[in-house]
Amino acid sequence: PLLPMEEQTERLPYDQRWEFPRYRLKLGVQLGAGCFGRVVKAKAVGMKDSNGRTAKTVAVKMVKSQTDAAALEALVRELKILIHLGSHLNVVNLLGACTKEMHKGELLVIVEYCRFGNLQTYLSSHRDSFVNLVDEFGNIRSQSETEETENTSSLQQGICDRDPTASTFCLDLIPTDSTASGETEPESICQYQRDATLPCISTHDLISWSFQIASGMDYLASKKVLHGDLAARNVLLADGGVVKVADFGMAKRMYCDGKYERTSQGLMPVKWMAIESLTDRVFSSQSDVWSFGVVLWELFSLGKVPYPGIEMGHLLVKEIQNGYRMEKPTNAPNFFGETMARCWKTDPNERPTFRQLKDAICSQVESCI
Ligand code: ADE
Repeated sequence: PLLPMEEQTERLPYDQRWEFPRYRLKLGVQLGAGCFGRVVKAKAVGMKDSNGRTAKTVAVKMVKSQTDAAALEALVRELKILIHLGSHLNVVNLLGACTKEMHKGELLVIVEYCRFGNLQTYLSSHRDSFVNLVDEFGNIRSQSETEETENTSSLQQGICDRDPTASTFCLDLIPTDSTASGETEPESICQYQRDATLPCISTHDLISWSFQIASGMDYLASKKVLHGDLAARNVLLADGGVVKVADFGMAKRMYCDGKYERTSQGLMPVKWMAIESLTDRVFSSQSDVWSFGVVLWELFSLGKVPYPGIEMGHLLVKEIQNGYRMEKPTNAPNFFGETMARCWKTDPNERPTFRQLKDAICSQVESCI
């Protein structure tokens, strides 16, 4: 059985092998911030990157105020979860930590840097160039039809000149001014432009991302870690079309923007929460599966806010209890509409597991390419 997050993490040890010298960490621009914590871009001098250079670009999590003991505790918990987790391609992995100044309220948690930021922002800002490969009946068009379309309508409309021979699930993104020499790296994703031959997101990318998120979550579930705040805003996009699940552990204590509603439990991401979490405060990997269903909805609606038009959480809870569920977004293949519905079954045991989701998405990929 899963222990509550707090109990789980209190038992986890810190391993000194993760310690990284503070003076070798050069902090840079802010990447994101919540109520209690923030993430900055940094260079970790002496840490090897994939090109063998010894100043890796990383992301560093820290508390906003060094006098906020609760925020610090939450970050310690997240660090311990990251150590416990080990590494997986579809999880934002731990790279190190600076814990020596903890007595002064400073803790720096070093994680992988994901250049293209969170999926929710990325999807909504690439909505206009989306290449939909799903027909009006919810079927994924076959490869030959796709190529035909690529050569005709979407190209003629100037929507996209994606190279049909390019690897289907590889999202190549390149810097505008090449950083191949490795000297300078543009500060923000705004300075990046997609490769001219691969300028758009297509249905295939959304399917690939859904598979990768299910894989990352299956890994979490296999380690008996529950996320508790799975949402497109907490999934990050890295190079090569790789997506990574981020922000676990601290999530529960960091609720503070419009996505989280005040309840007796504090601020909660109501629109992503399973029915049993809302009514009985029960969280499990199967409640993460419900949230995964909402993430699928976000993916195929290209970053829209779930339950559009419903503002009040308590009304939503009543509606969901009465059996109301969101419809399949127009651009979603039927299979994904059906999958969302299965993730939103009232009985958590009737929902698929992440392992089953992963396998089912994989067989979809095989049958559609
Ligand atoms: N924003 C929050 N965490 C991030 C990370 N690890 N990489 C890039 N942007 C982020």
